Amino acid sequence: MTATGATTTPVLETKELVAGYLPGVNILNGCSIVANQGDLIGIIGPNGAGKSTLLKAVFGQVSIREGSVLLNGDDITGLKADRLVSKGVGMVPQNNNVFPSLTIEENLEMGLFQEPKMFKERFEFVGALFPELVKRRKQRAGSLSGGERQMVAMGRALMMDPAVLLLDEPSAGLSPVRQDETFLRVAEINSHGVTIVMVEQNARRCLQIAHRAYVLDQGKDAYTGTGREMLNDPKVIQLYLGTLATDVEEKARTSATETVGPTPEVATTTAPPLAAEEPKAP
Ligand SMILES: Nc1ncnc2c1ncn2[C@@H]1O[C@H](COP(=O)(O)OP(=O)(O)O)[C@@H](O)[C@H]1O
Ligand SMILES: [Mg+2]
Repeated sequence: MTATGATTTPVLETKELVAGYLPGVNILNGCSIVANQGDLIGIIGPNGAGKSTLLKAVFGQVSIREGSVLLNGDDITGLKADRLVSKGVGMVPQNNNVFPSLTIEENLEMGLFQEPKMFKERFEFVGALFPELVKRRKQRAGSLSGGERQMVAMGRALMMDPAVLLLDEPSAGLSPVRQDETFLRVAEINSHGVTIVMVEQNARRCLQIAHRAYVLDQGKDAYTGTGREMLNDPKVIQLYLGTLATDVEEKARTSATETVGPTPEVATTTAPPLAAEEPKAP
């Protein structure tokens, strides 16, 4: 074990993955990543680099043409999603990741459809991570804010006690405050020993919490290093963070000096805290 809780025992490995959707068009072009037990791995890179495709290939949703995927050393290349879930791969896709007409509790039950007897024990674990979900277990997921749905989706994937949790852009579409909260939640889940591979378009925040990260470029792992190394690597900054870093810092400066009250972005996407939404006693 290192100080971060990460180890050197590989849990998930992709080896030189080549995969794509259309015949003759490869999106992944020899992509290799390793997530060790306890790791929080970040995957960053430009739009269209193949980040989502990498997670989909691991999760049996894109056909793999060459290369392999290993889980705890076992070859799981090309297995279907339900087999992968039972073997310990948890996936939270970017969109449509909850059943809106079902309650929070029913969504979590769906996560355990393969092992319904484990419900009580797993609900306790997930409930300790997301106490808000327990309080509102009878509420329909469709009535929740984006950030809350993200928690339900992560909670559902955690019900099966996955060996590795794959997250596709958990902060996408959330207000800055909810994004921060989501990154803290992800780090907290990881601190309980869950190995995580997280794809993020918010590269800076991702690198701030990731033990290690990969830059994906045109379907290939172009760079890797610790989150901190990557944040300070001139090559990575120049090629992949440069614009973003200046944008973020510039935005922070202007909003600190100019804005009074919430920005439109915050105003339209921020939901009140969960507790505040509960009916108040007269
Ligand atoms: N279902 C699909 N069918 C065909 N091409 C797709 C499909 N999904 C994604 N692609 C293509 O694959 C490439 C990588 O997409 P994606 O993995 O979603 O990138 P990222 O997540 O890094 O933004 C893009 O060129 C995209 O147009
Ligand atoms: Mg994507």
